[in-house]
Amino acid sequence: MRPGEDGSRGAADRSPLLSITDLVISVPGPDSKQTPLVDRISLTVFSGERVGIIGESGSGKSLTALAALGLAPPPAQITGGTITIDGIDMLAAPERELNRVRGGIVALVPQEPATALNPVYSVGFQLSEVIRLHRDVSRQDARSIALGLLARTGLRPPASIARAYAHQLSGGQLQRVMIALALSGRPQLLIADEPTTALDAVTTRGILHLLDELSKTDALALLLISHDLDLVASHVDRVIIMYAGEIVEEAPTERIFNEPRHPYTAALLRISREIRSPEARKRTLSAIEGTIPAPGSWETGCRFAPRCSRARPACFAQHPELVAHGGGRAVRCLFPLAGAPS
Ligand SMILES: Nc1ncnc2c1ncn2[C@@H]1O[C@H](COP(=O)(O)OP(=O)(O)O)[C@@H](O)[C@H]1O
Ligand SMILES: [Mg+2]
Repeated sequence: MRPGEDGSRGAADRSPLLSITDLVISVPGPDSKQTPLVDRISLTVFSGERVGIIGESGSGKSLTALAALGLAPPPAQITGGTITIDGIDMLAAPERELNRVRGGIVALVPQEPATALNPVYSVGFQLSEVIRLHRDVSRQDARSIALGLLARTGLRPPASIARAYAHQLSGGQLQRVMIALALSGRPQLLIADEPTTALDAVTTRGILHLLDELSKTDALALLLISHDLDLVASHVDRVIIMYAGEIVEEAPTERIFNEPRHPYTAALLRISREIRSPEARKRTLSAIEGTIPAPGSWETGCRFAPRCSRARPACFAQHPELVAHGGGRAVRCLFPLAGAPS
């Protein structure tokens, strides 16, 4: 059930499951000055809500996903902002509490599934071990819960998947095992970082369908991360577009889809639609000219300006703020495509 559908909980009396405010993730440079990689990101995910984070490779999506659990891969470190999960301060809580929250309230399906499994243990053994970390159950009960989770993620027959080793599974099967692992602590929010990137179109549809099912049957909230706006759009309620470490647009999915306001969002939409249209295969793809700027070389003005066909002199001089446009939309652009800020 989506929040509010039961009519008992209005937006005003809900507190978010995940709340990130002004998150900064940095790396120390040679002169010990910090270089930001993720720059003042704020986002919330409510119980049962499905949110997408979209952006090109290098925009800071994976770092944001890790930070949601209070983690950053060294040398990157969280240098600013607050992160709370179910009201728990992820940057200050004792390790025991953090371990309860990680996996037990919010679970992450990491971007590289192959590296998350140990090649020398069977899938069933590893799944049972993780279940026993989160639940006070016997080895035998853990094994039957593991088989249940494998079945629930569409892996058949569960017993033979449980006996398999990572290298014996296809990319799609591996991704389902990762989702089963993430579900083993009965989380309320699943963060899936590029869950379909290495998969073919049919397998991709299967994984997205599984995530849809889980969000419906278990009221599981989803934070779905991808570089493909068109692909993810029909599976989330709200979309956050990231560029060069910051949010450039966010809105309910329909609004983003029907009326993008940031030129970068519009370009992402155009590209993913062209990839899918049969005529476009005959045309040259209208890739966005240039590349995403590396951390440390961000412009003083708008970070997208050097690649933006609509950029004016002011765009290079002034860094735009994320401005509310009403109806749950916010845009970081001095000259948005349509409509006026409220
Ligand atoms: N542990 C790290 N140390 C230093 N830089 C990092 C680290 N992890 C990622 N980065 C850099 O931070 C930026 C954002 O990375 P990432 O969050 O992985 O992007 P995305 O997931 O959007 O592709 C990239 O420029 C990347 O090279
Ligand atoms: Mg990533």
